[in-house]
Amino acid sequence: MKNIISFTIIICLLVIVKSCNTKDKKSIKPEQSILSSDSLLEYRYQQILQQPLDSLGIPRSFDITTNTLKKLSSSDWTSGFFSGSLWQIYQLTGNEEFKQKAKDWTAFMEKEKNNSGTHDIGFMIFSSYGKAWQITGNKNYASTVVQTAKTLTSRFNKNVKAIRSWDWNQDVWEFPVIIDNMMNLELLFEATKISNDSIFHNIAEQHANTTLKNHFRNDNSTYHVIIYDTIQGNAINKVTHQGINDESDWARGQAWAIYGYTMAYRYVKNPAYIKQAETTLQFYLSHPNLPEDGIPFWDFDDPKIPNAPKDVSAAAIIASACYELFSYTQKEKYRVYADHVIKTLNSENYLLPRQNQSPFILGHSTGNKPKNDEIDVPINYADYYFLEALVRQKNLNKNK
Ligand code: GLY
Repeated sequence: MKNIISFTIIICLLVIVKSCNTKDKKSIKPEQSILSSDSLLEYRYQQILQQPLDSLGIPRSFDITTNTLKKLSSSDWTSGFFSGSLWQIYQLTGNEEFKQKAKDWTAFMEKEKNNSGTHDIGFMIFSSYGKAWQITGNKNYASTVVQTAKTLTSRFNKNVKAIRSWDWNQDVWEFPVIIDNMMNLELLFEATKISNDSIFHNIAEQHANTTLKNHFRNDNSTYHVIIYDTIQGNAINKVTHQGINDESDWARGQAWAIYGYTMAYRYVKNPAYIKQAETTLQFYLSHPNLPEDGIPFWDFDDPKIPNAPKDVSAAAIIASACYELFSYTQKEKYRVYADHVIKTLNSENYLLPRQNQSPFILGHSTGNKPKNDEIDVPINYADYYFLEALVRQKNLNKNK
């Protein structure tokens, strides 16, 4: 009798466990999921999904030593990446719950379309509203992209033929342009496609050409900040803000350049853009300080290498760019590097462990080392570009 009771209890437990698993899996259609339901990556997706909605508390990074979530409002340069990640998880999984959360977080960004105080509205609105437009085709998202483009072009200077990056430090830097600013051109190119108004495309092209002329060294690495004079439009100083020194190779700067010129080629088809993307990538890939796992240190010239912090965000940006670069050049080495980075990142070495309850996927990014800010942490833009790389990898694999 005792045996029969124990047997019945075990069978009941198995049935309960099985039905719980079925319920968990229901929300993601198996044919749309690239993951097994209990993978660490999917667990991280759930952490992002569960973050409570808060327009003033958009997750930016997480300090592992103090267990503190850094949250900011929509005016921060990174604010669009969180909703952009949700959009991309929706793309990867087909799970409508992510779509709903993506919509909700995206809505918090809208007021930035009129923020003329920073070039970063390109990042902020394109990673949120731009992704939403590309994924849903909803025209309301497109009109926010166009309005933002109008605002962003108010920062264009006809003498310099570039968009001003920062307004601070004006007594020292007359007209600063940072390599990161290449990323904001995607919003302008798309705004012309949406509106048929060529002004946005023309300004973006001029900015890309000016940057091509002044930002690169003879070895094809990029400077971080170029200072222009606004009368002649000459480059009068070449400095850094986030690298270790003015002549150093800040890893994320190289990433913005490689991604920026690959993306600009998509719209302008200027062979010089592809050439710049390829030569800067060549510089990066052949650098003796690039570790074998493909994830760079935050700056190639940090004398503390190999005991310097890494920057996963730079690797993720470049991986995503490499898939696009491969699609234009058909050079297998770009795809091989991107696959290598994705494989490295999608492992316990870089995915945050289950006990970390923050709304992020990857650890080990470095935000601003010279300011000792966000060193070796999870950061939202690393997740965003990693997810974008996963989407691009998936699309390429479909056409193999
Ligand atoms: N655009 C700022 C950064 O890359 O940190």
